[in-house]
Amino acid sequence: MNLAIFASGNGSNFTALVKAVKEKKIKAKFVVLVCDKPEAFVVKRAQKAKITVILVKREDFASRADFEAAIIQRLGNYKIDLIALAGFMRMLSPGFVKLYRNRIINIHPSLLPAFKGAHAIRDAIEAKVSFTGVTVHFVDNQMDHGPAILQKQIKIKRTDTLNSLEKRIHTLEHELYPQAINKIF
Ligand code: GRF
Repeated sequence: MNLAIFASGNGSNFTALVKAVKEKKIKAKFVVLVCDKPEAFVVKRAQKAKITVILVKREDFASRADFEAAIIQRLGNYKIDLIALAGFMRMLSPGFVKLYRNRIINIHPSLLPAFKGAHAIRDAIEAKVSFTGVTVHFVDNQMDHGPAILQKQIKIKRTDTLNSLEKRIHTLEHELYPQAINKIF
């Protein structure tokens, strides 16, 4: 199985997936990183791990269609079986999703459908809910939406700060993402 990880930021999930591949916890033969932000820390993580990086900046293209065509063309060299979004801060077009139908998954730091969007952990704290969690799901044409593959909950303690909850959620994400991939491959 050839795995492409799409990320735009820190890349802790990228590192967790690369580690799971190295430790043979997931059956990927090849991993490539697709990143739209050259300055993102995930690029340094990939270089350190000697993982191929495909850098594609949206600003270099006149339209989203051209941007995605460049990604598709470069991914075409690698016969990718699964795309794992890990903090990739862009919506993929319906055409892209169709091309990789049922082969694009995403991880999100909430129990979807609750708390979609970029501030899911903060939103859960502000809503004063007792539980939140992590969801891995297939990607469809809506943001943070599509059939769930794995979901796990976490209790929000009264003493939790954004920082302490974020830490526990990220630890859970790093366990759950490889497990979710194993459920589909
Ligand atoms: C994670 O919380 C993930 O659930 C969300 O974006 C964040 C990425 O974190 N989609 P990292 O870059 O993998 O550290």
